[in-house]
Amino acid sequence: MAEAMAERLDKILVSQGAATRREAQRLIRAGKVTVDGEACRDPARKLEPEGCAIALSGQPLRYRRHLYVMLNKPAGLLCVSRDPRAATVLDLLPPELRRQGLFPAGRLDKDTVGLVVITDDGDFAHRMLSPRKEIVKRYQAVISGPVGPEEIGIFAAGTSLEDGTRCRPAALRVLKEGERPLVEIAITEGRYHQVKRMFLSVGRRVLWLKRISIGGLVLDPRLKEGECREMGPGECEAVLEKA
Ligand code: URA
Repeated sequence: MAEAMAERLDKILVSQGAATRREAQRLIRAGKVTVDGEACRDPARKLEPEGCAIALSGQPLRYRRHLYVMLNKPAGLLCVSRDPRAATVLDLLPPELRRQGLFPAGRLDKDTVGLVVITDDGDFAHRMLSPRKEIVKRYQAVISGPVGPEEIGIFAAGTSLEDGTRCRPAALRVLKEGERPLVEIAITEGRYHQVKRMFLSVGRRVLWLKRISIGGLVLDPRLKEGECREMGPGECEAVLEKA
């Protein structure tokens, strides 16, 4: 649990995406911001935001030290915070889920769809992404040719990528057999194009790829591609489960 910390009132409004610094100062000086029911006209007033009730133009401010968002990424968007030319996953956030410092915790390729966590909590992202934590990421994929016991065995033993990199053991399951089978693969690393390169190492191409879970956090089936929602505290903990 983060320690309570006093912060300037104007900075609190900015951190919550409620206003820019300049707007926050103007609103506070204009008496539009109340603290525990009393107008506070001093932008520099220091408060512990979790210990008081702040309202802006009568609307209570729901203070969240950090934000955690689950997104069902569609194909065609870059999984980065910003790009000078192309749209990014942050462009999908509705106004109430926008604030400074947000970034996607971990990357999916432009053509990959599915679960992305967006946050402004660097420590959380680090714990989620650290290879030492061995958080399991599950994907579903459509593959260019049949796979069976041989490929399952190679992945279970830890396949070698084209540059000689050894992968950790990965669990491969065939969900739907055929010339273009649907499979599920669980990996505990996040190398560049990892799943695609793993399948290339056994002579197959990935035709479609979707991340369906990270640790114990499963993509909410109610989220259509391109939709997102705030995560609850239990879901943040679930991400870090070794499931
Ligand atoms: N592996 C890939 O090859 N691509 C992704 O987007 C994620 C995992």
